[in-house]
Amino acid sequence: MTELKVLLSREKIAERVAEMGRQISADAKAEPIIFVGVLKGAAIFLSDLVRQVEVDATFEFVGVSTYGNRPTPTQELRHAWDSTGEVRLTKDVDQSLRGKNVVLVEDILDTGFTLTFLKRLLQGHQPKSFRVAVLLDKPSRRKMPVAADYVGFEIPDEFVVGYGLDYAERYRNLPDICVLPNGAGGNAS
Ligand code: IMP
Ligand code: MG
Repeated sequence: MTELKVLLSREKIAERVAEMGRQISADAKAEPIIFVGVLKGAAIFLSDLVRQVEVDATFEFVGVSTYGNRPTPTQELRHAWDSTGEVRLTKDVDQSLRGKNVVLVEDILDTGFTLTFLKRLLQGHQPKSFRVAVLLDKPSRRKMPVAADYVGFEIPDEFVVGYGLDYAERYRNLPDICVLPNGAGGNAS
């Protein structure tokens, strides 16, 4: 595997995820939480986060896919990677969220199309409370007016991989979050 520049080390991530877990626990006021992770990118973040939470927690997963071009790290294709805003649900939650305390868990908040779509979908269940936790936020890329309640790290407009985040399904198992340089991903597939 190519040497990639580390943006956020595993130690730094672990420390911040623990803080987020404490914050979420405090806000829950001893009530149980259902964490809803967005496949596949948030799987690793969710599994670390739920182990730092001190209230009863269960979890669910949703799957989404975006029509059109997927993000690629190459500068030439940059204009084409902006999602079209057409988000489609590929996997729904297995239980009703009505009256529950829900925390949606996403790997990265970029244009905001995915989060806008999922907020609308999950709030339609009429949960008792609804909050959003994202590990990474790229505010400079936002196209929809949406924000998260818990943000691990604000990062610059770089394409990052590792700790669940992929480029063409690769690099999800890197323990650190790394910057993928232009062209490093090979052929966009
Ligand atoms: P949004 O709808 O544009 O906010 O898209 C968020 C989704 O785009 C994330 O869940 C990721 O799947 C993907 N994404 C955005 N930026 C990156 C990145 O830097 N690395 C890997 N995936 C990314
Ligand atoms: Mg994702």
